[in-house]
Amino acid sequence: MENCQEINLTCPAPPLTPTSPTEIPPLDGGGSGRRSENFIFTNESRIHILCLIVKLLLSENKIQKKVVALARRISKDFAGKEVLLVGVLKGAFVFLADLARHITVPVKIDFVRLASYGSGMRSSGKMKITKDLETPLKGKNVIVVDDIVDTGATLKQLSRRLKARRPSSLKVVALMDKCGRREMNFQADYVGFCIGNHFVVGYGLDCAEEYRNLRGIYILK
Ligand code: IMP
Ligand code: MG
Repeated sequence: MENCQEINLTCPAPPLTPTSPTEIPPLDGGGSGRRSENFIFTNESRIHILCLIVKLLLSENKIQKKVVALARRISKDFAGKEVLLVGVLKGAFVFLADLARHITVPVKIDFVRLASYGSGMRSSGKMKITKDLETPLKGKNVIVVDDIVDTGATLKQLSRRLKARRPSSLKVVALMDKCGRREMNFQADYVGFCIGNHFVVGYGLDCAEEYRNLRGIYILK
C-alpha cells in the first residue's frame, strides 16, 4: 500500500517514557520502513496499544491536503451562499472541525447523533436519531459531514430523514468511502479518499472509543 508504515506492537509492552519531544517518533511521516514500537505518540498523549498490528493508511499531511481540497470545492460550489454543516457524531468531529476552518463561505454548525437498532448499522438495520439537530433545516444549504461511508445505510437513511425537513439543498461530504463495500444505493457528493475494506481508526474514528485523537488514519487488524 502506498505510503504505508507498519508498526508491530508487541504484547506485553514494557513501560516507555519519552524524555523530550524530540524523542517522539514521527509516525505520520509516511515512510516505508518497518519498525517495532509499543506506543503510538501524538503531540499531547501517549497511547498504549497491545497485541495489534497497526498500519498507517493516511498520514496527517495527506489528510490535511485533502481537507483543504474538499473545502475549496465546497466554497466554490456554494459561493455567495451560507452553508450549514451537520456533523454526524462522534466520528466526524475532527474532520468537521478542520473542514469548517478551510471553508471560505459563511458557515453554521450543528450535530446529529445516530444509533442503530435491529441488526446493527448495516443495510437491514434501522437508524434512530439519539441527538437531533437544534437548527431548523427549511431553506438552508445543508452539508452532512461524516467520517466514512461503509455499506451506505447510515447516510442513506439520514439523508432521507433530513430531506423531509425541506432544506434548500442537501449534500453529503465523507472523508473516506469504502467504495467496494456498498450495499445501498448511496453516493456521497464529496469524497476524500476511496479506501479498501479495512477497519480504520484515528482522526475521529474509533475502536471501542479509543484512538479518536490520532492525527493520522490507521488500519487495525
Ligand atoms: P454504514 O452505515 O455501513 O455506511 O457505516 C457507516 C458508519 O459506520 C460510519 O459513520 C462509522 O461510524 C462506522 N464505521 C464504518 N467503518 C468504520 C471503520 O472502519 N472504522 C470506524 N468506524 C467505521
Ligand atoms: Mg460515522
